[in-house]
Amino acid sequence: MARAPAQNPALIDKAKAYADVAAEIAAVLEGESNLIARMVTVVALLVATFDSYFWTGFYLVDPDLPDQLVVGPYQGTLGCLRIAFGRGVCGAAAQSRQTQIVADVHAFPGHIACDSRSNSEIVVPVFGPDGALIGVLDVDSTAYGAFDAVDAAGLEAIMAQVFGARAPHPEASS
Ligand code: SME
Repeated sequence: MARAPAQNPALIDKAKAYADVAAEIAAVLEGESNLIARMVTVVALLVATFDSYFWTGFYLVDPDLPDQLVVGPYQGTLGCLRIAFGRGVCGAAAQSRQTQIVADVHAFPGHIACDSRSNSEIVVPVFGPDGALIGVLDVDSTAYGAFDAVDAAGLEAIMAQVFGARAPHPEASS
C-alpha cells in the first residue's frame, strides 16, 4: 500500500496559524465597513501572529495618480511613501496583479530598499468587491527565504475575505 506523503509539521502549523488569524480578523471586523479600520486591523493581527514579519503594510493605488502606489496603514520602520507601478516588488505585484515571493530582495532587479534589514518579502495584490485593484499587501522579513506558497495562500485568502466582499455599514445607533 502506498504510504501517505510525509507532512512537514512547520508548514501545517503555518497554514493553521493563517486559518486562525483569518477567523480572528473576521470576528473583529464583523459589521465594520471602513477601509482604514479594516486595514489597520489586518496589519495588527498579522504582526501579532507571525514573529517573522518585520515590516507589514499596505500600499494603495493613488486615486489621483492611478499608476502609483502610496503608502497606507503599516507597522514597521519608516516606509517609502510612493512606488510607481512596475518598480520594485510592490510595483511588480501591482502591475502583474500576481503575488510576488522574493527569497532574496537584494537579487531582485529594482528592489526598493526602504530598510536594509529586510532580506525577503511577499507582496499580495488586493482587489475590491468589483475586482478592481485597491493596492498591495507587503510583508518583509529580516530572514532570507521567509515566505512560501503557504504564506501566499494564507494572505490571498485573507485579502479576499476582508476586501473582496462588500462589508455592511455599521448600524448608526451603535
Ligand atoms: N520592498 C518594497 C518597498 C517597500 S518597503 O520594503 C516598505 C519593494 O521593493 O517593493
